[in-house]
Amino acid sequence: MHIHRLERAWLTFGVGMLLIFLATITTAAVVDGFVPPSHTQTIDPTHVSQTPPFDHPGLHKLADGSYEAYYVAQIFSFTPHDLVIPRGAHVTFYVTSTDVVHGFSIPLTGVNMMVVPGWVSSAAHTFNQPGTFLLVCNEYCGAGHQLMAAQIEVK
Ligand code: CUA
Repeated sequence: MHIHRLERAWLTFGVGMLLIFLATITTAAVVDGFVPPSHTQTIDPTHVSQTPPFDHPGLHKLADGSYEAYYVAQIFSFTPHDLVIPRGAHVTFYVTSTDVVHGFSIPLTGVNMMVVPGWVSSAAHTFNQPGTFLLVCNEYCGAGHQLMAAQIEVK
């Protein structure tokens, strides 16, 4: 079978790129321990409710005046469902799941994470404007996915 010179070159380039991508991903997985960048800690997903600080989800104030918010995602809700944050607070969110992969997205804030069982995802935001923010699950997680939402009030 005759393959035109330019077509052969283009095929070689395409297959070569695929092999380079595959080698890159494999190297990252084997050498670097491939995890999403916001996932820094592990947790036993079967004992989340007994593992501090996830045994007391909610807002925790730190000595430096900033805040940490611990959330548990489960089908089909977030704990806590309602969170009140003081205006101007810098909040670092830590989120884990007890069952399947969920999303954790607070529109208009840049907080948008995938929540994977066994991992703790984190992201931070400073809430300078008062108002009510919606917190939604943006990863399809089952039949009640569209009901999975919570609220954050800044005042
Ligand atoms: Cu949880 Cu979709």
